[in-house]
Amino acid sequence: MEGGGGAPPEILEESHSGCVLPTSLGANSLKKSSWGFLFTGIIGGTLVAVYAVATPFLTPALRKICLPFVPATTKQIENVVKMLHCRRGSLVDIGSGDGRIVIAAAKAGFTAVGYELNPWLVWYSRYRAWREGVHGSAKFYISDLWKVTFSQYSNVIIFGVPQMMPQLEEKLTLELKDDARVIACRFPFPRWTPDHVTGEGVDTVWTYDVSTVRGKGPRRPVCFQPSIQM
Ligand SMILES: C[S@@+](CC[C@H](N)C(=O)[O-])C[C@H]1O[C@@H](n2cnc3c(N)ncnc32)[C@H](O)[C@@H]1O
Repeated sequence: MEGGGGAPPEILEESHSGCVLPTSLGANSLKKSSWGFLFTGIIGGTLVAVYAVATPFLTPALRKICLPFVPATTKQIENVVKMLHCRRGSLVDIGSGDGRIVIAAAKAGFTAVGYELNPWLVWYSRYRAWREGVHGSAKFYISDLWKVTFSQYSNVIIFGVPQMMPQLEEKLTLELKDDARVIACRFPFPRWTPDHVTGEGVDTVWTYDVSTVRGKGPRRPVCFQPSIQM
């Protein structure tokens, strides 16, 4: 049967596939669906970007030992640099954050390396090192600190959390050479006895010479006069 009840012929258009579409209705719904796609794309893209940026900052909280990104204070960095006075050689910051300690050490003449789990912080640290003109002596790697061997470093900096210090103490005892120095920021190692302590409150840093820790006595002369506050 033909005729009766169909749409008026002027608003019908034959599509390539042979289907008949109502012209004005089709254009309208196409426009609407394009905006819909664009809107969904923008929202989806934004969510993916937020997720990608935020995840590396949030995942430390889900690990067995939660070590969040808390940058060292200016005073803390000053105390670390003070404890490195007269030291030479390679230096590592374990969990280097935004690279501020590595960059300060590179400026003080060290070949400094940072290991950091968060890729955004590593890329930012590399940018900072480049901006501050020390990219030749400040290097950053995306690595899990528990999977790195620190035996090649003679100066080791750690701004950790109390929960990780016993395990890190064991790891460093096994790996470091006798002439290495370890500087702990804010939280000390539980069993090692520090050679020096400087700073106050959250800016306190503890210095450990591995030779002392192993009962072999200091191998290098100490050439600074830190205040011991125990
Ligand atoms: C307390 S912040 C110290 C940052 C930097 N050292 C400073 O003093 O400014 C600890 C850093 O360790 C990083 N971190 C956490 N777990 C890690 C892991 N398993 N391996 C390497 N880095 C880690 C965090 O992302 C954070 O940036």
